[in-house]
Amino acid sequence: MSEVEIKRGLEGVHFTETELSFINGQEGKLYYLGYPIDQLAENSSFEEVSYLLLHKKLPTADELALFKEKMVKNRNLAVEKIASFADYPKDAHPMAALRTAISEIGLFDPTEEDTSYESLYEKSISLISKMATVTAAIKRLREGKMPIEPDPELSHAGNFYYMMNGTKPSKEQEKLLDVALILHAEHGMNASTFTALAVHSTASDIYSSIVAAIGALKGPRHGGANEQVMRMVQEIGDPEAAAGWVQGKLANKERIMGMGHRVYKALDPRAVILKKYAEIVAKAHGKSKEYEILTIVEREAGKVLNPRGIYPNVDFFSGVVYSDLGIPTDFFTPVFAVARISGWTAHILEYYRMDNRLLRPKAKFVGELDRKYVPIDQR
Ligand SMILES: CC(C)(COP(=O)(O)OP(=O)(O)OC[C@H]1O[C@@H](n2cnc3c(N)ncnc32)[C@H](O)[C@@H]1OP(=O)(O)O)[C@@H](O)C(=O)NCCC(=O)NCCS
Repeated sequence: MSEVEIKRGLEGVHFTETELSFINGQEGKLYYLGYPIDQLAENSSFEEVSYLLLHKKLPTADELALFKEKMVKNRNLAVEKIASFADYPKDAHPMAALRTAISEIGLFDPTEEDTSYESLYEKSISLISKMATVTAAIKRLREGKMPIEPDPELSHAGNFYYMMNGTKPSKEQEKLLDVALILHAEHGMNASTFTALAVHSTASDIYSSIVAAIGALKGPRHGGANEQVMRMVQEIGDPEAAAGWVQGKLANKERIMGMGHRVYKALDPRAVILKKYAEIVAKAHGKSKEYEILTIVEREAGKVLNPRGIYPNVDFFSGVVYSDLGIPTDFFTPVFAVARISGWTAHILEYYRMDNRLLRPKAKFVGELDRKYVPIDQR
Protein backbone atom coordinates (compact mmCIF):
# COMPACT_ATOMS: atom_id res chain seq x y z
CA MET A 1 0.00 0.00 0.00
CA SER A 2 2.92 2.34 0.70
CA GLU A 3 3.81 2.40 -3.01
CA VAL A 4 0.54 3.97 -4.06
CA GLU A 5 1.13 7.42 -5.55
CA ILE A 6 -1.52 9.91 -4.57
CA LYS A 7 -2.40 12.64 -7.07
CA ARG A 8 -3.90 15.30 -4.84
CA GLY A 9 -6.86 16.93 -6.52
CA LEU A 10 -6.38 14.37 -9.36
CA GLU A 11 -3.83 16.82 -10.74
CA GLY A 12 -2.22 15.55 -13.94
CA VAL A 13 -4.44 12.43 -14.10
CA HIS A 14 -5.81 11.51 -17.54
CA PHE A 15 -8.75 9.09 -17.44
CA THR A 16 -10.02 9.45 -21.01
CA GLU A 17 -9.36 11.03 -24.40
CA THR A 18 -11.16 14.00 -25.86
CA GLU A 19 -11.17 15.97 -29.09
CA LEU A 20 -13.34 18.76 -27.72
CA SER A 21 -10.79 21.22 -26.39
CA PHE A 22 -7.10 21.57 -25.78
CA ILE A 23 -5.47 23.90 -23.29
CA ASN A 24 -1.82 24.81 -23.63
CA GLY A 25 -1.40 26.05 -20.08
CA GLN A 26 2.24 27.10 -20.46
CA GLU A 27 1.61 29.34 -23.46
CA GLY A 28 -1.93 30.42 -22.58
CA LYS A 29 -3.70 28.92 -25.57
CA LEU A 30 -7.14 27.35 -25.88
CA TYR A 31 -8.67 25.51 -28.83
CA TYR A 32 -12.15 24.04 -29.37
CA LEU A 33 -11.86 21.12 -31.83
CA GLY A 34 -8.54 22.58 -32.92
CA TYR A 35 -9.87 26.09 -33.62
CA PRO A 36 -8.11 28.83 -31.61
CA ILE A 37 -10.53 30.49 -29.19
CA ASP A 38 -9.84 34.01 -30.46
CA GLN A 39 -10.90 33.00 -33.99
CA LEU A 40 -14.15 31.55 -32.67
CA ALA A 41 -14.84 34.58 -30.47
CA GLU A 42 -14.22 36.90 -33.38
CA ASN A 43 -16.10 35.09 -36.15
CA SER A 44 -18.48 32.49 -34.74
CA SER A 45 -21.70 32.44 -32.72
CA PHE A 46 -22.75 30.50 -29.62
CA GLU A 47 -25.07 28.36 -31.77
CA GLU A 48 -22.26 27.49 -34.18
CA VAL A 49 -19.87 26.71 -31.31
CA SER A 50 -22.51 24.48 -29.69
CA TYR A 51 -22.93 22.64 -33.01
CA LEU A 52 -19.14 22.34 -33.28
CA LEU A 53 -18.92 20.80 -29.81
CA LEU A 54 -21.82 18.38 -30.23
CA HIS A 55 -20.92 17.33 -33.79
CA LYS A 56 -17.14 17.81 -33.71
CA LYS A 57 -17.22 19.75 -36.99
CA LEU A 58 -18.19 23.22 -38.14
CA PRO A 59 -21.67 23.20 -39.73
CA THR A 60 -22.49 24.08 -43.33
CA ALA A 61 -24.93 26.98 -43.73
CA ASP A 62 -27.89 24.53 -44.01
CA GLU A 63 -26.78 22.49 -41.02
CA LEU A 64 -26.44 25.63 -38.92
CA ALA A 65 -29.86 26.90 -40.01
CA LEU A 66 -31.47 23.58 -38.99
CA PHE A 67 -29.60 23.54 -35.69
CA LYS A 68 -30.69 27.09 -34.88
CA GLU A 69 -34.28 26.18 -35.75
CA LYS A 70 -34.07 23.24 -33.35
CA MET A 71 -32.66 25.46 -30.62
CA VAL A 72 -35.45 28.01 -31.10
CA LYS A 73 -38.11 25.25 -30.89
CA ASN A 74 -36.62 24.07 -27.62
CA ARG A 75 -36.49 27.51 -25.96
CA ASN A 76 -39.98 27.58 -24.51
CA LEU A 77 -40.85 26.26 -21.09
CA ALA A 78 -44.27 25.02 -19.99
CA VAL A 79 -46.16 27.74 -18.14
CA GLU A 80 -46.63 25.50 -15.08
CA LYS A 81 -42.84 25.13 -14.79
CA ILE A 82 -42.39 28.89 -14.69
CA ALA A 83 -45.15 29.12 -12.11
CA SER A 84 -43.27 26.71 -9.89
CA PHE A 85 -40.05 28.77 -10.20
CA ALA A 86 -42.06 31.65 -8.71
CA ASP A 87 -42.26 29.70 -5.44
CA TYR A 88 -38.50 29.52 -5.02
CA PRO A 89 -37.19 31.64 -2.12
CA LYS A 90 -35.97 34.99 -3.42
CA ASP A 91 -32.97 35.03 -1.10
CA ALA A 92 -31.63 31.63 -2.19
CA HIS A 93 -28.56 31.72 -4.44
CA PRO A 94 -29.62 31.80 -8.13
CA MET A 95 -27.37 28.77 -8.75
CA ALA A 96 -29.42 26.83 -6.18
CA ALA A 97 -32.57 27.95 -8.02
CA LEU A 98 -31.09 26.95 -11.39
CA ARG A 99 -30.04 23.55 -10.02
CA THR A 100 -33.57 22.94 -8.74
CA ALA A 101 -35.22 24.18 -11.94
CA ILE A 102 -33.18 21.87 -14.18
CA SER A 103 -33.96 18.99 -11.85
CA GLU A 104 -37.67 19.84 -12.12
CA ILE A 105 -37.51 19.97 -15.92
CA GLY A 106 -36.00 16.47 -15.87
CA LEU A 107 -38.64 15.24 -13.44
CA PHE A 108 -41.41 16.19 -15.87
CA ASP A 109 -39.63 15.00 -19.04
CA PRO A 110 -41.19 11.63 -20.04
CA THR A 111 -37.95 10.78 -21.91
CA GLU A 112 -35.76 11.34 -18.84
CA GLU A 113 -34.91 7.64 -18.45
CA ASP A 114 -34.28 7.09 -22.18
CA THR A 115 -30.49 6.88 -22.34
CA SER A 116 -30.23 6.04 -26.05
CA TYR A 117 -27.77 8.22 -27.93
CA GLU A 118 -30.52 9.80 -30.05
CA SER A 119 -32.49 10.79 -26.96
CA LEU A 120 -29.36 12.11 -25.22
CA TYR A 121 -28.59 14.25 -28.27
CA GLU A 122 -32.12 15.68 -28.36
CA LYS A 123 -32.05 16.40 -24.63
CA SER A 124 -28.64 18.07 -25.02
CA ILE A 125 -30.05 20.58 -27.51
CA SER A 126 -33.09 21.07 -25.31
CA LEU A 127 -30.89 21.76 -22.28
CA ILE A 128 -28.60 24.14 -24.21
CA SER A 129 -31.69 26.12 -25.29
CA LYS A 130 -33.59 25.98 -22.01
CA MET A 131 -30.73 26.88 -19.69
CA ALA A 132 -30.98 30.46 -20.97
CA THR A 133 -34.77 30.59 -20.64
CA VAL A 134 -34.68 29.18 -17.11
CA THR A 135 -31.92 31.55 -15.98
CA ALA A 136 -33.70 34.58 -17.41
CA ALA A 137 -37.03 33.51 -15.84
CA ILE A 138 -35.41 33.06 -12.41
CA LYS A 139 -33.78 36.47 -12.70
CA ARG A 140 -37.07 38.21 -13.61
CA LEU A 141 -39.04 36.45 -10.86
CA ARG A 142 -36.47 37.44 -8.25
CA GLU A 143 -36.88 41.04 -9.38
CA GLY A 144 -40.66 40.70 -8.95
CA LYS A 145 -41.21 40.85 -12.72
CA MET A 146 -42.97 38.47 -15.06
CA PRO A 147 -40.73 36.19 -17.17
CA ILE A 148 -40.58 37.09 -20.84
CA GLU A 149 -41.39 34.62 -23.60
CA PRO A 150 -38.51 33.83 -25.96
CA ASP A 151 -38.43 35.72 -29.25
CA PRO A 152 -37.86 33.24 -32.11
CA GLU A 153 -36.43 35.98 -34.32
CA LEU A 154 -33.46 36.61 -32.04
CA SER A 155 -30.15 34.76 -31.79
CA HIS A 156 -29.47 32.71 -28.66
CA ALA A 157 -27.42 35.52 -27.08
CA GLY A 158 -29.83 38.23 -28.28
CA ASN A 159 -32.83 36.34 -26.95
CA PHE A 160 -31.11 35.62 -23.63
CA TYR A 161 -30.42 39.34 -23.21
CA TYR A 162 -34.03 40.15 -24.15
CA MET A 163 -35.52 37.59 -21.73
CA MET A 164 -33.35 38.94 -18.90
CA ASN A 165 -33.80 42.66 -19.49
CA GLY A 166 -37.10 43.05 -21.35
CA THR A 167 -35.50 45.15 -24.10
CA LYS A 168 -33.86 44.01 -27.30
CA PRO A 169 -30.06 44.31 -27.28
CA SER A 170 -28.05 46.58 -29.54
CA LYS A 171 -25.79 44.76 -32.05
CA GLU A 172 -22.86 45.60 -29.76
CA GLN A 173 -24.55 44.14 -26.65
CA GLU A 174 -25.60 41.01 -28.55
CA LYS A 175 -22.03 40.46 -29.75
CA LEU A 176 -20.66 41.06 -26.25
CA LEU A 177 -22.93 38.42 -24.70
CA ASP A 178 -22.34 36.04 -27.60
CA VAL A 179 -18.56 36.32 -27.12
CA ALA A 180 -18.90 35.75 -23.37
CA LEU A 181 -20.98 32.61 -24.03
CA ILE A 182 -18.47 31.31 -26.61
CA LEU A 183 -15.55 31.86 -24.23
CA HIS A 184 -17.24 29.97 -21.40
CA ALA A 185 -18.72 27.13 -23.49
CA GLU A 186 -16.01 24.52 -22.99
CA HIS A 187 -12.84 24.03 -21.00
CA GLY A 188 -11.63 20.46 -20.87
CA MET A 189 -11.91 18.25 -17.81
CA ASN A 190 -12.72 20.97 -15.25
CA ALA A 191 -14.47 20.12 -11.97
CA SER A 192 -18.05 20.52 -13.24
CA THR A 193 -17.45 18.59 -16.48
CA PHE A 194 -15.76 15.82 -14.52
CA THR A 195 -18.73 15.78 -12.13
CA ALA A 196 -21.16 15.51 -15.06
CA LEU A 197 -19.21 12.57 -16.47
CA ALA A 198 -18.87 10.85 -13.09
CA VAL A 199 -22.65 10.90 -12.68
CA HIS A 200 -23.35 9.96 -16.30
CA SER A 201 -20.88 7.07 -16.17
CA THR A 202 -23.16 5.38 -13.64
CA ALA A 203 -25.74 5.16 -16.51
CA SER A 204 -27.84 7.75 -14.73
CA ASP A 205 -29.92 10.26 -16.72
CA ILE A 206 -28.56 13.43 -18.31
CA TYR A 207 -30.57 15.75 -16.03
CA SER A 208 -28.94 14.23 -12.92
CA SER A 209 -25.54 14.74 -14.57
CA ILE A 210 -26.23 18.39 -15.38
CA VAL A 211 -27.74 19.12 -11.96
CA ALA A 212 -24.56 17.74 -10.37
CA ALA A 213 -22.42 19.83 -12.75
CA ILE A 214 -24.35 22.97 -11.76
CA GLY A 215 -23.61 22.14 -8.12
CA ALA A 216 -19.87 21.88 -8.90
CA LEU A 217 -19.85 25.10 -10.93
CA LYS A 218 -21.48 26.95 -8.03
CA GLY A 219 -18.32 26.77 -5.89
CA PRO A 220 -16.10 29.87 -5.57
CA ARG A 221 -13.02 27.90 -6.65
CA HIS A 222 -14.74 27.14 -9.95
CA GLY A 223 -17.60 29.13 -11.55
CA GLY A 224 -18.37 31.18 -8.46
CA ALA A 225 -15.09 33.11 -8.75
CA ASN A 226 -16.51 35.70 -11.19
CA GLU A 227 -19.03 36.77 -8.56
CA GLN A 228 -16.26 37.00 -5.95
CA VAL A 229 -14.22 39.23 -8.29
CA MET A 230 -17.06 41.74 -8.49
CA ARG A 231 -17.48 41.66 -4.71
CA MET A 232 -13.74 42.30 -4.43
CA VAL A 233 -14.08 45.35 -6.72
CA GLN A 234 -16.99 46.62 -4.60
CA GLU A 235 -15.03 46.06 -1.38
CA ILE A 236 -12.00 47.97 -2.74
CA GLY A 237 -14.35 50.73 -3.85
CA ASP A 238 -11.72 53.23 -5.03
CA PRO A 239 -8.78 52.80 -7.44
CA GLU A 240 -6.58 54.64 -4.90
CA ALA A 241 -7.20 51.88 -2.36
CA ALA A 242 -6.55 48.98 -4.73
CA ALA A 243 -2.78 48.56 -4.36
CA GLY A 244 -2.89 48.62 -0.54
CA TRP A 245 -5.83 46.21 -0.52
CA VAL A 246 -3.93 43.69 -2.66
CA GLN A 247 -0.77 43.97 -0.53
CA GLY A 248 -2.82 43.38 2.62
CA LYS A 249 -4.53 40.30 1.18
CA LEU A 250 -1.31 38.75 -0.05
CA ALA A 251 0.44 39.49 3.25
CA ASN A 252 -2.39 37.58 4.96
CA LYS A 253 -1.93 34.70 2.49
CA GLU A 254 -5.42 35.25 1.14
CA ARG A 255 -6.34 34.48 -2.47
CA ILE A 256 -7.09 37.10 -5.06
CA MET A 257 -10.24 35.94 -6.80
CA GLY A 258 -10.12 35.62 -10.57
CA MET A 259 -6.43 34.82 -10.53
CA GLY A 260 -4.74 31.45 -10.82
CA HIS A 261 -5.72 28.31 -12.60
CA ARG A 262 -5.00 24.61 -12.25
CA VAL A 263 -3.97 24.35 -15.91
CA TYR A 264 -2.90 27.84 -17.05
CA LYS A 265 0.47 28.95 -15.79
CA ALA A 266 0.36 31.91 -18.21
CA LEU A 267 -2.34 34.48 -18.97
CA ASP A 268 -5.68 32.77 -19.73
CA PRO A 269 -6.45 33.62 -23.40
CA ARG A 270 -10.10 34.16 -22.49
CA ALA A 271 -9.02 36.84 -20.00
CA VAL A 272 -7.11 38.57 -22.82
CA ILE A 273 -10.27 38.73 -24.98
CA LEU A 274 -12.52 39.76 -22.09
CA LYS A 275 -10.09 42.44 -20.99
CA LYS A 276 -10.34 43.96 -24.47
CA TYR A 277 -14.15 44.04 -24.24
CA ALA A 278 -14.08 45.24 -20.61
CA GLU A 279 -11.93 48.17 -21.69
CA ILE A 280 -14.33 49.05 -24.53
CA VAL A 281 -17.28 48.87 -22.12
CA ALA A 282 -15.42 50.91 -19.51
CA LYS A 283 -14.69 53.69 -21.97
CA ALA A 284 -18.14 53.70 -23.57
CA HIS A 285 -20.44 53.25 -20.59
CA GLY A 286 -18.76 54.72 -17.56
CA LYS A 287 -17.53 51.51 -15.93
CA SER A 288 -14.06 52.98 -15.81
CA LYS A 289 -13.77 52.88 -12.00
CA GLU A 290 -14.36 49.12 -11.85
CA TYR A 291 -12.05 48.54 -14.79
CA GLU A 292 -9.34 50.70 -13.28
CA ILE A 293 -9.53 48.84 -9.96
CA LEU A 294 -9.15 45.54 -11.82
CA THR A 295 -6.12 46.70 -13.79
CA ILE A 296 -4.44 47.88 -10.57
CA VAL A 297 -5.22 44.55 -8.85
CA GLU A 298 -3.88 42.72 -11.91
CA ARG A 299 -0.66 44.76 -11.81
CA GLU A 300 -0.09 44.74 -8.03
CA ALA A 301 -0.99 41.08 -7.47
CA GLY A 302 0.97 40.22 -10.60
CA LYS A 303 4.21 41.48 -9.05
CA VAL A 304 3.97 38.68 -6.47
CA LEU A 305 1.89 36.06 -8.28
CA ASN A 306 3.05 36.17 -11.92
CA PRO A 307 6.49 34.73 -11.10
CA ARG A 308 4.58 31.79 -9.53
CA GLY A 309 2.57 31.25 -12.73
CA ILE A 310 -0.57 32.89 -11.34
CA TYR A 311 -2.32 35.28 -13.77
CA PRO A 312 -5.88 36.56 -14.33
CA ASN A 313 -8.26 33.83 -15.46
CA VAL A 314 -11.55 34.04 -17.39
CA ASP A 315 -13.40 35.31 -14.31
CA PHE A 316 -11.24 38.37 -13.75
CA PHE A 317 -12.69 40.70 -16.38
CA SER A 318 -16.03 38.99 -17.13
CA GLY A 319 -17.87 40.81 -14.32
CA VAL A 320 -17.39 44.28 -15.80
CA VAL A 321 -18.76 42.99 -19.10
CA TYR A 322 -21.70 41.22 -17.44
CA SER A 323 -22.73 44.23 -15.34
CA ASP A 324 -22.77 46.31 -18.50
CA LEU A 325 -25.24 43.81 -19.95
CA GLY A 326 -27.62 44.29 -17.02
CA ILE A 327 -26.62 41.05 -15.32
CA PRO A 328 -26.59 41.30 -11.51
CA THR A 329 -23.52 40.00 -9.68
CA ASP A 330 -25.24 36.92 -8.23
CA PHE A 331 -26.24 35.90 -11.78
CA PHE A 332 -22.69 35.74 -13.13
CA THR A 333 -22.34 32.04 -12.35
CA PRO A 334 -25.76 31.11 -13.81
CA VAL A 335 -24.68 32.91 -17.01
CA PHE A 336 -21.54 30.75 -16.94
CA ALA A 337 -23.84 27.69 -16.76
CA VAL A 338 -25.86 29.00 -19.73
CA ALA A 339 -22.61 28.80 -21.72
CA ARG A 340 -20.99 25.72 -20.20
CA ILE A 341 -24.05 23.54 -20.80
CA SER A 342 -22.69 23.06 -24.35
CA GLY A 343 -19.38 21.71 -23.05
CA TRP A 344 -21.05 19.52 -20.42
CA THR A 345 -23.43 17.90 -22.90
CA ALA A 346 -20.71 17.54 -25.58
CA HIS A 347 -18.48 15.69 -23.10
CA ILE A 348 -21.36 13.48 -21.99
CA LEU A 349 -22.09 12.54 -25.64
CA GLU A 350 -18.40 12.00 -26.42
CA TYR A 351 -17.77 9.81 -23.36
CA TYR A 352 -20.99 7.90 -23.99
CA ARG A 353 -19.90 7.17 -27.58
CA MET A 354 -16.54 5.96 -26.31
CA ASP A 355 -17.74 3.44 -23.71
CA ASN A 356 -19.14 5.44 -20.79
CA ARG A 357 -16.93 3.41 -18.46
CA LEU A 358 -17.84 3.86 -14.81
CA LEU A 359 -15.61 6.46 -13.15
CA ARG A 360 -14.44 4.95 -9.93
CA PRO A 361 -11.08 6.10 -8.52
CA LYS A 362 -9.63 4.90 -5.25
CA ALA A 363 -8.36 6.50 -2.07
CA LYS A 364 -5.34 5.02 -0.32
CA PHE A 365 -6.50 3.47 2.92
CA VAL A 366 -4.46 4.69 5.87
CA GLY A 367 -6.70 3.63 8.75
CA GLU A 368 -6.45 0.74 11.18
CA LEU A 369 -7.70 -2.77 10.38
CA ASP A 370 -9.16 -5.64 12.42
CA ARG A 371 -10.30 -3.42 15.27
CA LYS A 372 -12.51 -5.04 17.86
CA TYR A 373 -16.04 -3.67 18.05
CA VAL A 374 -16.73 -2.30 21.52
CA PRO A 375 -20.38 -2.13 22.65
CA ILE A 376 -21.56 1.47 23.13
CA ASP A 377 -21.94 1.22 26.92
CA GLN A 378 -18.28 0.17 27.25
CA ARG A 379 -16.69 3.03 25.22
C1 LIG B 1 -8.20 28.14 -9.30
C2 LIG B 1 -7.33 27.63 -8.18
C3 LIG B 1 -8.18 26.82 -7.17
C4 LIG B 1 -6.28 26.69 -8.78
O1 LIG B 1 -5.32 26.45 -7.89
P1 LIG B 1 -4.57 25.05 -7.70
O2 LIG B 1 -3.98 24.57 -8.94
O3 LIG B 1 -5.47 24.10 -6.98
O4 LIG B 1 -3.41 25.53 -6.79
P2 LIG B 1 -3.46 25.69 -5.22
O5 LIG B 1 -4.82 26.04 -4.73
O6 LIG B 1 -2.81 24.47 -4.67
O7 LIG B 1 -2.48 26.95 -5.05
C5 LIG B 1 -1.07 26.87 -5.22
C6 LIG B 1 -0.42 28.04 -4.52
O8 LIG B 1 -0.74 29.25 -5.22
C7 LIG B 1 -1.44 30.14 -4.38
N1 LIG B 1 -2.52 30.73 -5.14
C8 LIG B 1 -3.28 30.14 -6.09
N2 LIG B 1 -4.19 31.00 -6.55
C9 LIG B 1 -4.01 32.14 -5.88
C10 LIG B 1 -4.67 33.40 -5.90
N3 LIG B 1 -5.71 33.60 -6.72
N4 LIG B 1 -4.25 34.35 -5.08
C11 LIG B 1 -3.19 34.15 -4.25
N5 LIG B 1 -2.54 32.97 -4.18
C12 LIG B 1 -2.94 31.99 -4.98
C13 LIG B 1 -2.01 29.28 -3.26
O9 LIG B 1 -2.23 30.02 -2.08
C14 LIG B 1 -0.92 28.24 -3.10
O10 LIG B 1 0.12 28.82 -2.35
P3 LIG B 1 1.03 27.94 -1.34
O11 LIG B 1 1.72 26.96 -2.22
O12 LIG B 1 1.90 28.95 -0.69
O13 LIG B 1 0.05 27.28 -0.40
C15 LIG B 1 -6.64 28.80 -7.43
O14 LIG B 1 -5.77 29.47 -8.30
C16 LIG B 1 -7.66 29.77 -6.83
O15 LIG B 1 -8.19 29.50 -5.75
N6 LIG B 1 -7.91 30.92 -7.53
C17 LIG B 1 -8.89 31.88 -7.09
C18 LIG B 1 -10.26 31.39 -7.45
C19 LIG B 1 -10.55 31.50 -8.94
O16 LIG B 1 -10.32 32.52 -9.56
N7 LIG B 1 -11.11 30.42 -9.48
C20 LIG B 1 -11.52 30.39 -10.88
C21 LIG B 1 -10.73 29.41 -11.67
S1 LIG B 1 -11.17 29.54 -13.38
